[in-house]
Amino acid sequence: MAIVGLPDKAVSEARERVRSALIASGLALPARRITVNLAPADVPKEGSHYDLPIALGLMAAIGAIPPDALAGFTVLGELGLDGSIAPVAGVLPAAIGANSRDEGLICPAACGTEAAWASPDIQIIAAKSLIQIANHFKGTQLLSRPQPKVHEREETLLDLRDIKGQESAKRALEIAAAGGHHLLMIGSPGAGKSMLAARLPSILPPLSPSELLEVSMIASVAGEIRDGALTARRPFRAPHHSASMAALTGGGMRAKPGEISLAHQGVLFLDELPEFDPRVLDSLRQPLENGEVAVSRANHRVTALYAGGGDEPVPLRPCL
Ligand SMILES: Nc1ncnc2c1ncn2[C@@H]1O[C@H](COP(=O)(O)OP(=O)(O)OP(=O)(O)O)[C@@H](O)[C@H]1O
Ligand SMILES: [Mg+2]
Repeated sequence: MAIVGLPDKAVSEARERVRSALIASGLALPARRITVNLAPADVPKEGSHYDLPIALGLMAAIGAIPPDALAGFTVLGELGLDGSIAPVAGVLPAAIGANSRDEGLICPAACGTEAAWASPDIQIIAAKSLIQIANHFKGTQLLSRPQPKVHEREETLLDLRDIKGQESAKRALEIAAAGGHHLLMIGSPGAGKSMLAARLPSILPPLSPSELLEVSMIASVAGEIRDGALTARRPFRAPHHSASMAALTGGGMRAKPGEISLAHQGVLFLDELPEFDPRVLDSLRQPLENGEVAVSRANHRVTALYAGGGDEPVPLRPCL
């Protein structure tokens, strides 16, 4: 089996996972050459989420599922060697994209509740294994549509009432929380600056439904959604002062969102501000001014949201 279309290491290794998963699911591959073509051929492909579409494409080709079953579906998921389907990042934006194209979504079972947020109408098949998907299409065992889920029991937050006195600092914190203002705390060591900042999340207003989707899309791309459930709590990001430019503004191998994007609609807290690398702090200046982060790499150009930028939220637009 060969995979063509600029696959990275994780995508080329899909070959081994797909082969093992199909054999473990009781499906023998035909004894001839198989070529998997990832189109468009000139766009580099990366990540393990191509496993499931490759496997389902093969299953349709060998007649394990009806040939037209996959029409109108967007598919993503990683395969285990035993034919199980493992969760991947980015299911929520994929579901929203599929919905806008009037398509359904086939995704890992663990991500179904996350995908269900895209729309109440979108058809979602969230399966634990290849066999479940085959049975679903044959009609022998139908999978029910997952329901959107929020975290019910959030961990308790530190409370503002722990702080003794400091009335003016607390007032400043409240005004910043209510109005979404920037806040710079200066004071002698042990005055309670870190303590005050750590209690800010407890007085932030909950996210509105549209904000929740926006924030969750970024968290989903970064693979930070826990148990497929979203949270109405505003993000509070406190990167360490040794953080690199890529960690703060986004980038790295896969042009992932940085702390500044993950703090969208919430708080980016830089404790020990003067300890940050001046170049890293400087890289925050341009996003602060125009409310957008632009990360350019050899084969990526990604424009992303910045926490609290402009009046109009800018949608996350990965453009290759
Ligand atoms: N107003 C306060 N009420 C209750 N405890 C306080 C108060 N101010 C300081 N403390 C205590 O002092 C400890 C140290 O405070 P904190 O670490 O927030 O200081 P800081 O201003 O961040 O200092 P540094 O500049 O060294 O980082 C807190 O963990 C808390 O136990
Ligand atoms: Mg401190």
